[in-house]
Amino acid sequence: MQSASLAAYPALRLRRLRQADWTRRLVREHELTPADFIWSMVIHEGEGRVPVAAMPGVDRLSVAEAAKAAVEARKLGIPAIAIFPQIDGSRKDAVGGMAADPNGVIARAVKAMKDAAPEVGIMCDVALDPFTDHGHDGVIENGKILNEATIERLVEQGLMQAQAGCDILAPSDMMDGRVGALRGALESAGLTDTLIMSYAAKYASAFYGPYREAIGSAKLGSAAPDHPSNKATYQMDPANTDEAIREVALDLAEGADMVMVKPGLPYLDIIRRVADTFKAPTFAFQVSGEYAMIAAAGANGWIDRDRAVMESLMAFKRAGCAGVITYFAPEAARMLGA
Ligand code: PBG
Repeated sequence: MQSASLAAYPALRLRRLRQADWTRRLVREHELTPADFIWSMVIHEGEGRVPVAAMPGVDRLSVAEAAKAAVEARKLGIPAIAIFPQIDGSRKDAVGGMAADPNGVIARAVKAMKDAAPEVGIMCDVALDPFTDHGHDGVIENGKILNEATIERLVEQGLMQAQAGCDILAPSDMMDGRVGALRGALESAGLTDTLIMSYAAKYASAFYGPYREAIGSAKLGSAAPDHPSNKATYQMDPANTDEAIREVALDLAEGADMVMVKPGLPYLDIIRRVADTFKAPTFAFQVSGEYAMIAAAGANGWIDRDRAVMESLMAFKRAGCAGVITYFAPEAARMLGA
C-alpha cells in the first residue's frame, strides 16, 4: 500500500463509494457467475431421489435423475458436474474391486449425462473409498495403505471413467505419484483430451462427515483391528501450509491441468497461496460439512441461508479461485438469476 498517494480523512471517506447500490456495483472487485460452479452430486444405484439426512436439500440421484440434472445444469449455465457414487454394501470389498466396473453406476451415469447434455463437463472422483468395505481410499496390508498397489487400481478406474466419456478425472486419494500414472495411462490410451483436476492439497478433515453418510462408507477402523481410524497417513495435516505448495507443484509437474484445495472455507489461506504461486486454474471444494453447517444454521433461523451461501461462494473468488465445487451450485445459480 502506497500511503503517499492516499488522502487522509476527511478528504478520504471510503463510505462515499458504499453510499448506493450503483456505486457499490461500480467498484465491485469480484463477481460470481454460474460459470464458477462445479455441481457436486451423489449418484445411487436405485431409482429416483433419496435424501441425504445430514445434507438437507441434497438427494442421491438415480442415473435417470442425474441425466435430468445435467440438462438442468446446462439450462442454469453451470459448466460442469462432479459425481460421486453410493454403492450397495454387497458390492464392496477390501480392494474396491468394482471401482473400474465398466457397467457400474458411474459409467452408466456418465453416459446418460453426456447423452442428455453433451455440453456439460462431467468430472469423476478417482478414488476407491466408495467401493471398499473398510472406507479407506487404498489397498491395505498389515494396517498400511499401500501406495503403488492403490495407484494400479486407480489407473484402471480412471481409464474406465475416461472411456465411458468422463471429461475430467479428479483423483482424490492423495497417493504419491498418481497424477503422473493417470496422465501416462491416458496418453498411452490416446485419451489426450481428458482433463485432470487433482485434489492436490487435500486435508485430513472432519468436514467430510456428511459425505461419508451420503456414499454409505464404513466407519474407518471398524473393518479390522489393524486398520487406521483416520486418513492421516495420506491426507494432509491441517497444520501445514508449505507442504500444500509442494503437493501442488508435484501434481502440476505430473500433468494436472487444474488443482484443487479441499476443504474450502477453512483453507482460504492455502487457496490464495496456491493461486499466487502457480497461476494455474485453482479450485476449492466446498465440502459436505460446509454445506451441512450452512443448511443447519439456516434451517434453525440462526443465519440467512441465501446470504450465507452467496457470501461463502464469493469468498472463494476473492481468495483466487477459478471456480468452486459445491452442492449449492443449482440454488446459487438460480439466485444469480440463471
Ligand atoms: C473420497 C472423497 C471424499 C470427498 C470427496 N472424495 C471423502 C474423503 O476423502 O474421506 C469429500 C467430499 C465432501 O465431503 O463433500 N476420496
